[in-house]
Amino acid sequence: PSSRVTLTVNGRKHTVTVDNRTSLLDLLREHLDLTGSKKGCNAGACGACTVLVDGRRVNSCLTLAVRLDGAEVTTIEGLGDGDRLHPLQQAFIDEDAFQCGYCTPGQIMSGVGCIEEGHAGSKDEIREWMSGNICRCGCYPKIVRAVEQTAR
Ligand code: FES
Repeated sequence: PSSRVTLTVNGRKHTVTVDNRTSLLDLLREHLDLTGSKKGCNAGACGACTVLVDGRRVNSCLTLAVRLDGAEVTTIEGLGDGDRLHPLQQAFIDEDAFQCGYCTPGQIMSGVGCIEEGHAGSKDEIREWMSGNICRCGCYPKIVRAVEQTAR
């Protein structure tokens, strides 16, 4: 069975008909061509798919699209303002906080959530609240620095 869902993604309203089992990640990537959010594990373990739903961080691979009627979703594509990067995107560049870059969209969305939720007061707090985002290149110290700097 399929359902119609109307949701706002990065300020734009979309109405789509999706199979009821479709994840938000697949809706974004396959129906809306927003491929910034990455599919790492597709099982809630890596954080590469992190987006904000109504301002809260979620693993979009674990979130059913049909449950999001009326929701506001922000993805990495919607974070900057035109050509202007979000301060955390700039901090990732300044701190050289990525190598392969695959986890970076999820890290940045999680970092934004972490800051907005008020959980970026110290390196330890950032490490704890970003612990759902895995980086196989091991860029953690630089990621934490970028989040810490942006939160100041
Ligand atoms: Fe969603 Fe890994 S792809 S947590």
